[in-house]
Amino acid sequence: MKSPSYPNRSFWQILILFGVLQAFSTVPLNAQENTAPAIIPAPRDMTLFDKRFYWEDFLDVGISKSSSITKEWVLEKIKPYTGQGEHKRCSVMLMMIDSSSFEHPEAYSLNIQENLIMIKSGTDAGLRFGLTTLLQTIRMDSSANTHYSPRLDIQDFPRFPYRGMHLDVCRHFFPVSFIKRYIDYLAMYKFNTFHWHLTEDQGWRIEIKRYPKLTETGAWRSETLIGRAGREPARYDGIPYGGFYTQEEIREVVRYAAEQGITIVPEIELPGHALAALSAYPQFSCTGGPFEPATTWGVFDDVYCTKEETITFLRQVLDEVIDLFPGRYIHIGGDECPKTRWKACPNCQANIRANGLADEHELQSWFIKQIAAHLHSRDRRLIGWDEILEGGLAPDATVMSWRGVSGGMQAAAEGHEVIMTPGNPCYFDHYQSRRDDQPLAIGGYNPLEAVYAWDPIPANLDPTLHHFIRGGQGNVWTEYMPDEKHVEFMIFPRITALAETLWSDPKTKDFPHFLDRVDVHQKQWLQANIRYFPYYR
Ligand code: ACM
Ligand code: ZN
Repeated sequence: MKSPSYPNRSFWQILILFGVLQAFSTVPLNAQENTAPAIIPAPRDMTLFDKRFYWEDFLDVGISKSSSITKEWVLEKIKPYTGQGEHKRCSVMLMMIDSSSFEHPEAYSLNIQENLIMIKSGTDAGLRFGLTTLLQTIRMDSSANTHYSPRLDIQDFPRFPYRGMHLDVCRHFFPVSFIKRYIDYLAMYKFNTFHWHLTEDQGWRIEIKRYPKLTETGAWRSETLIGRAGREPARYDGIPYGGFYTQEEIREVVRYAAEQGITIVPEIELPGHALAALSAYPQFSCTGGPFEPATTWGVFDDVYCTKEETITFLRQVLDEVIDLFPGRYIHIGGDECPKTRWKACPNCQANIRANGLADEHELQSWFIKQIAAHLHSRDRRLIGWDEILEGGLAPDATVMSWRGVSGGMQAAAEGHEVIMTPGNPCYFDHYQSRRDDQPLAIGGYNPLEAVYAWDPIPANLDPTLHHFIRGGQGNVWTEYMPDEKHVEFMIFPRITALAETLWSDPKTKDFPHFLDRVDVHQKQWLQANIRYFPYYR
């Protein structure tokens, strides 16, 4: 990476505007040695100096005019750390500079001096990352009862452009307040994508104006399974359960996420995992129903029929989704679609014949291609789980590889972009400890060290295909996570290991050093009332 060139004219305009650079003499208190701050994900390049920036002296924030980040937003972020010092003389500056100074669009530099903190980037994303790093440098000098940041220089940029976390709000529902907090957690660790899993067999969670029954009926199940699925006899709690987001709430979340630098990828599942939608509109199934939203977990035979009315319905649903979410990608699911009903359905069989398809796998591919074409017509692109490879990939489709990495490798070989999210170790619904005191989880074992050791680029992938691997994602399916605290427990601390895997230089990864930093972050989670799994060394 090139070092940033010396800034342009706006640098001086900013300095004159805020008038903060003065010839301060060194205060004896500042003559301290520093130890490295616990930054996660580890930055690319950090040089530490002695002397400090004391937050009690914090005066003001200056931001380049070309940035859309507001001073109020920055103040909100650093408010918890600012003191009541007498001599206010230290400032924080976010400076948007010529983006050609950085090789990477998300790159930033952070320079902490005694009286001035300078964050530079060519983008708002980079400025936010610089601020995130800055917040992680703040620590308490307990002898002086003050907060400070050590004097340092950081040059930083991410390894992968797609750094995602997913949340299933269907198996269990989470209010807007928690979704915003979840987005905060992502931003804290420099993720840039929130994959919002909005529709399922057990509940449809997004208001669609043209089809109100999707949420009037489809958002509510009569009761929920107690304990693990498959256990006999099954027991149910008898308590109606549900919830959904209004379009107004969705807009609010999208706006909030954008402010934190997070793009949302909404997921509308098709052709499978559709039972809640079919409960509301059984005419879009093969058999006509009736159906009810599922009360247990698993894969269900009743899926969308591939007939024209269903495709029209889905186009209209997706049109409203596209109007709500400005990101380029729409996730259409595509996983776990049994072919039982299609095999017995005259409409689906007629579709196979009319389109010269070999079988139901090609029918699924044909169906998804209809949807992909519609997304294209609205200038959006399709992401799907790796089953969308079966029967042939839609043009330009991005594949999310979850059944291991072979689907992702195949997609890359076919020239498609890939997000790696293999069950092992990216499924954060799996156990993170073998101790017998863990709450019920879906199964599997994905401890912190496995997430940390993971490389999203498979060792046996041809180097000429590496660039198709756009990044990775942690998935949080909530069958066995009934509330917010439980979600927190399952993602902390694994989210920090994934963050470092997706951002930092793999050559400098060091698990013991990472654990030392996690220790520091754990104390902060405790203070912030974030529940976490205490990792035992
Ligand atoms: C999945 O876990 N069914 C994508
Ligand atoms: Zn059918």
